[in-house]
Amino acid sequence: MRRSVLLVGCALLLLVAAAPGDCFHLCRAACASSSESQRGCRTALRAAMAGEGGAKHILCTGGAGYIGSHTVVHLLKAGYRVSILDNLSNASLKVKERLKQITGEDVPLFTTDTIDTDALLKLFKEQKFDGVIHYAALKAVGESVAMPLEYYTNNVSGTLTLLKVMREAGCKVLVFSSSATVYAPKETPLTEQDALGPSNPYGWTKFMIEQILQDLYKSDPSWKISILRYFNPVGAHPSGRIGESPSQPNNLLPYIQQVAVGRRPQLSVFGNDYNTPDGTGVRDYLHVEDLAEGHIAALTKLFQGDPCCITHNLGTGKGVSVLEMVDSFEKASGVKIPYKIEARRAGDLATVVADPSKANKELNWTAKRTIQEACANAWKWQSTNPYGYEDAPPQK
Ligand SMILES: NC(=O)c1ccc[n+]([C@@H]2O[C@H](COP(=O)([O-])OP(=O)(O)OC[C@H]3O[C@@H](n4cnc5c(N)ncnc54)[C@H](O)[C@@H]3O)[C@@H](O)[C@H]2O)c1
Repeated sequence: MRRSVLLVGCALLLLVAAAPGDCFHLCRAACASSSESQRGCRTALRAAMAGEGGAKHILCTGGAGYIGSHTVVHLLKAGYRVSILDNLSNASLKVKERLKQITGEDVPLFTTDTIDTDALLKLFKEQKFDGVIHYAALKAVGESVAMPLEYYTNNVSGTLTLLKVMREAGCKVLVFSSSATVYAPKETPLTEQDALGPSNPYGWTKFMIEQILQDLYKSDPSWKISILRYFNPVGAHPSGRIGESPSQPNNLLPYIQQVAVGRRPQLSVFGNDYNTPDGTGVRDYLHVEDLAEGHIAALTKLFQGDPCCITHNLGTGKGVSVLEMVDSFEKASGVKIPYKIEARRAGDLATVVADPSKANKELNWTAKRTIQEACANAWKWQSTNPYGYEDAPPQK
């Protein structure tokens, strides 16, 4: 019933709006306030976008992964057409059916590697993409120290291949997944102007790609490029159908989640004598749904604005300590998380948080969800999918 009302509403908006732009914005507002299963509403939204030159088709490289899959849901909700390119090196094909359960849409997934020039050329020839969100990367800091050549090849060479193919295809709108790891160590809120200085090969790949993007824009100022430096994405889609499931967690919340479902005996807390309220390390955790919305804000701004190459931090600006996170998760899940205090790890800072004011102002985006919501959504995902997309523990 609600679906029919929304559909009729959108159709009427299409008929009576003074201009296609008005219609598009009104429809988008109506769809955003509806549930994600309102497929018909999105169809009307796309029709409205057609009045503005057609629903934009976005390629998400790495879109089967953690952040990419959540952004796909929000791209569809905002009326974009979406395709995924992923080599599945850190993702499961099952994401496709889970996305269908959430959105009702069969999102095309091309099992391709960003390193593969011929496959990329073929794909860009067969499909017309209006823009790319480039998530595809290897992302484990420790692994990057052990395997620098694989990281530089996959992340930097893969990006070079993608950029050359995009240029060839005349697709010059790009949102790039960068990271707070590009910053030099600093314990007060980080602004985009702060000094850069990664401390591991993974961070250097992001630093190098940012430089490549700046140089590309200088050489050809018709590109529209948004560089997003994420802080610490956490949580999952509220449905519990998609989420993060690393075989070896590198971040705090996935580790806590795996302790909670019995995959790990306890959490190690590295240091409780930092200069923070409870002595444990403080980081800026943002809900992956807020992060997904940040991508929509950045992409929409690129389509509406002038060519640019612009950088924004995506974070909350608020720090949460390790023990605060444990407490929030215990409250959300009702499960006690055993932990042991260990020595500090070399190189860890007491506090790392974003100053997100540039994104708040220029992208009209703010992280809205709480850490309690992130923990509740993460628990829903982990408790219903103890081994992520797999049915059994990963092979060692
Ligand atoms: N999760 C974080 O804490 C975090 C923080 C800052 C930045 N980032 C960046 O955000 C992006 C997405 O991260 P995520 O957490 O979703 O990671 P993820 O591993 O879940 O997703 C990355 C996806 O890219 C795919 N991939 C990797 N190399 C590829 C290649 N050469 N060709 C095609 N596909 C490839 C993987 O299979 C995976 O599905 C990455 O670029 C990551 O560096 C992540």
